Amino acid sequence: MSFIVAIDGPAGAGKGTITKMVGEKLGLVNIDTGATFRCVALNMLQENIHIDEEEKIKEILEKIDIQMEHDGTIHLNGEDVTKRIRENDVNNFVSPVSVLPIVRNKLLEVQRKIAEGKNVIMEGRDIGTVVFPNADVKIYLDATPEERAKRRVLQNKEKGIECSYEEVLQGIKDRDKRDSTREIAPLKRAKDAIYVDTTNLSIKQVVEKIIEIIENK
Ligand code: DC
Repeated sequence: MSFIVAIDGPAGAGKGTITKMVGEKLGLVNIDTGATFRCVALNMLQENIHIDEEEKIKEILEKIDIQMEHDGTIHLNGEDVTKRIRENDVNNFVSPVSVLPIVRNKLLEVQRKIAEGKNVIMEGRDIGTVVFPNADVKIYLDATPEERAKRRVLQNKEKGIECSYEEVLQGIKDRDKRDSTREIAPLKRAKDAIYVDTTNLSIKQVVEKIIEIIENK
């Protein structure tokens, strides 16, 4: 038996930071499903594979190896890509890649397997709706696009990645639109998910709120 906390929401809502902190405090394994989509997008960029080359995508999916270490390091086919998957070319390519049914089917399998038999806090877009519809706790984290862009720019700066606010804001708006209008597993709040608007809350306040929600279950 495993205990599953599903955290869904748009890019930059704070899912990554919050999930990590809540996971550490409550002893839950933290799983970032966006990173798995980013790995597929990066692998396609490395191999020069176009979005409509289904056969070639199938081939890389058959042999892809994605490892998530406890310290947050992500390895793609043996290479440390933790920083690389946050760069702009991957940011811009990952949303169309995440729409592809073959990619989603493969990663659904990967994500369920990673959580098997563990107590996890898993963040993504469709965790409470598709990956774990029977999750013990479901939370939908949100914030305005402008606030989310501000946070992404700051986060990138800390990681040494230079980017402009306008570029990031436009990227966020484009991704929101694509993520919520795609046919398979769109970004949407599960009926039984608790909605948390983080626009005017500090990280500490959000973490406290979520821990309270989990502990009350
Ligand atoms: O959370 P993120 O920005 O790292 O996610 C990268 C992309 O992957 C984003 O465009 C949406 C997609 N994604 C998804 O479709 N389903 C998930 N469970 C997680 C991410």
